[in-house]
Amino acid sequence: MTTLSRRDLGRTAVAMSALSYSRVLGANDRVGVGYIGLGNRGDQVHDAFLEHGDNATVAICDLVPEYLDLAAKKSASRGVATRYTDYRKLLEDKNVDAVAICTPDHWHAVMFVAACKAGKDIYVEKPLSLTVFEGRRMVEAAEKYKRIVQVGLHRRSSPEIRTLAERVKAGELGQLSAARSFHVRNDWPVGIGSPADSAPPSREVWEAWLGPAPSQPYNRNKAWYNFRWFYDFSGGQLTNFGVHYSDAMRMMMQLTVPRTVTALGGRYVVNDNRQIPDTMVVLWEYDAPVAGDPSQRSTVLNSYEQYNGNGAPGNLKRTELEFRGTKGTLYLHNGNWEIVPEQTHSLPTKPNDPTSRDTSDWRASFKPAMEASSGKGSADTAFHSRNFLDCVKSRKQTNCDTLEGHRSNVGPLIGNIAHKLKSTLVFDEKSERFSNHPAANEFLHYEYRKGFSIEL
Ligand SMILES: NC(=O)c1ccc[n+]([C@@H]2O[C@H](COP(=O)([O-])OP(=O)(O)OC[C@H]3O[C@@H](n4cnc5c(N)ncnc54)[C@H](O)[C@@H]3O)[C@@H](O)[C@H]2O)c1
Repeated sequence: MTTLSRRDLGRTAVAMSALSYSRVLGANDRVGVGYIGLGNRGDQVHDAFLEHGDNATVAICDLVPEYLDLAAKKSASRGVATRYTDYRKLLEDKNVDAVAICTPDHWHAVMFVAACKAGKDIYVEKPLSLTVFEGRRMVEAAEKYKRIVQVGLHRRSSPEIRTLAERVKAGELGQLSAARSFHVRNDWPVGIGSPADSAPPSREVWEAWLGPAPSQPYNRNKAWYNFRWFYDFSGGQLTNFGVHYSDAMRMMMQLTVPRTVTALGGRYVVNDNRQIPDTMVVLWEYDAPVAGDPSQRSTVLNSYEQYNGNGAPGNLKRTELEFRGTKGTLYLHNGNWEIVPEQTHSLPTKPNDPTSRDTSDWRASFKPAMEASSGKGSADTAFHSRNFLDCVKSRKQTNCDTLEGHRSNVGPLIGNIAHKLKSTLVFDEKSERFSNHPAANEFLHYEYRKGFSIEL
């Protein structure tokens, strides 16, 4: 990481004075929201805020004029939003109470820390950060500058998922031993294609898009939307989809971060210029409280399975997540869910004996361990933006604050390191470093380009 340059120090001074402009908002006030990044997700997040009447789009920032035009049009009925191409100018705007950061992953930490220093509350898209080091620094920044933060792991605000988490925590599924998750879709044969490097839209725009990431030639696939297949800008589908799954696992199973991780996979079948695997399995072992009896500790084995060269469903229920308890299995897909009871036996398992193969007594002892149930629900982002707006006014903790967002991202991030090193890594929660593989610690952060900093 680079040290603070004179230019950065100047920026910090501006930002610090901006902190004193933070407004104290009452329950009936309108929150002035500034958007940084209005591409695919920024547009969806903007919609999710506009569903609520108590906020206005006061500022918009992106590198693509057409995205700014669209956002300005959508929010016109609530006033004219000031347009920016430099996010630092948006952060100086006194009408902005809160920012929504929906830029690519490699930009999150730098923009987030600057927003904290500028006294803005923050809705930041998942994954919180590109590295473990950045995530911890973001936790510290939010604490130091007393910012309200919502990380865009929007399943956390789904009413149904919140209720299910309480039921699972109370022990309804019995003791949990494992959770599995699946990101399945067939990208074979051409995937995202293999465009050649080319001239960027403009040198200035490409530099602004790259931000702290290493300097490199422009490639259409590395930039807008497709950056998620390249490691300088993203942790791949493991931190794209996988972080939602890791978050749901943490929520249902009361987990912090994994103590052990291993992963295998690669680019086996898809022919495009992606860097990330098309096929991958990650395994995490967590220390966990026993559901229904939190004084007891146990271990759970969780997995992420990515099949991008074959579209067959991960499980029979075609869900993205499943939670395996001694009494039942919870299948979860967004807000939709089904609980399938286990059939458990009260007599000990009978050994196979060639002289007496009658197992009818034993079979007769099988009973469903719980009742089946199912429900439909929603993980709409509007629940998450509602919770954020409420917390901006009440100064209460959001459903997914910086620490929750960081912890949910640690599993996927260290999964990528285990995959890169083809190793089983032991992670120390306190120091947030690997204890059995010194070289793996090198991948917990990277050196920013000159002029970019997350110093507090
Ligand atoms: N919560 C979810 O379900 C969900 C879904 C999709 C994406 N996301 C997350 O949202 C983020 C953005 O992904 P996306 O799919 O919208 O990508 P995208 O490329 O469509 O949008 C990113 C936008 O950021 C802008 N940008 C880049 N650098 C900028 C800068 N220096 N200043 C201002 N704007 C800049 C780009 O011009 C682009 O419009 C990612 O972190 C992604 O993981 C979350």
